[in-house]
Amino acid sequence: MTRYTMDALLRGLGVALILGAWSAAPAHALTLKTETVHRPSSTRVFPGDGPGAKAANSFCLMCHSAGMVMTQPDLSKSTWLAEVNKMKHVMKAPIPEDQVPVIAEYLYSIKGRK
Ligand code: HEC
Repeated sequence: MTRYTMDALLRGLGVALILGAWSAAPAHALTLKTETVHRPSSTRVFPGDGPGAKAANSFCLMCHSAGMVMTQPDLSKSTWLAEVNKMKHVMKAPIPEDQVPVIAEYLYSIKGRK
């Protein structure tokens, strides 16, 4: 037997031992646990499926969560309009002009000061 073959055999034996040890490892060592996490759903997306909710979900979630909006106090319609305009013009949110009043109206409907 050449020295080269001997080497190969020993290496093969080593691999077999490692594989054997790995497959013999107790199964519970690899068991992952699942936790149930309750998150406030209102801070993930804007509630509802009307045009305002759709527009807010399309144009207000690329920089911050809905929570940034939902945790604000109830505001008047003109304040919401100013806020959406601020996001568009100051923060450079890519909101189509015709969606600005739609979003403001929607925000007023869910967080409006009557
Ligand atoms: C281009 C990024 C961007 C988009 C898109 C965006 N915002 Fe913002 N918004 C910001 C940043 C940045 C702040 C934090 C400002 C600060 O820290 O002073 C912020 C803060 C706010 C605040 C907290 C009050 C304030 O004025 O700081 C509200 C409310 C808000 N955004 C509403 C919205 C709404 C509604 C939309 C969709 C119409 C929207 N944002 C889309 C960047 C964005």
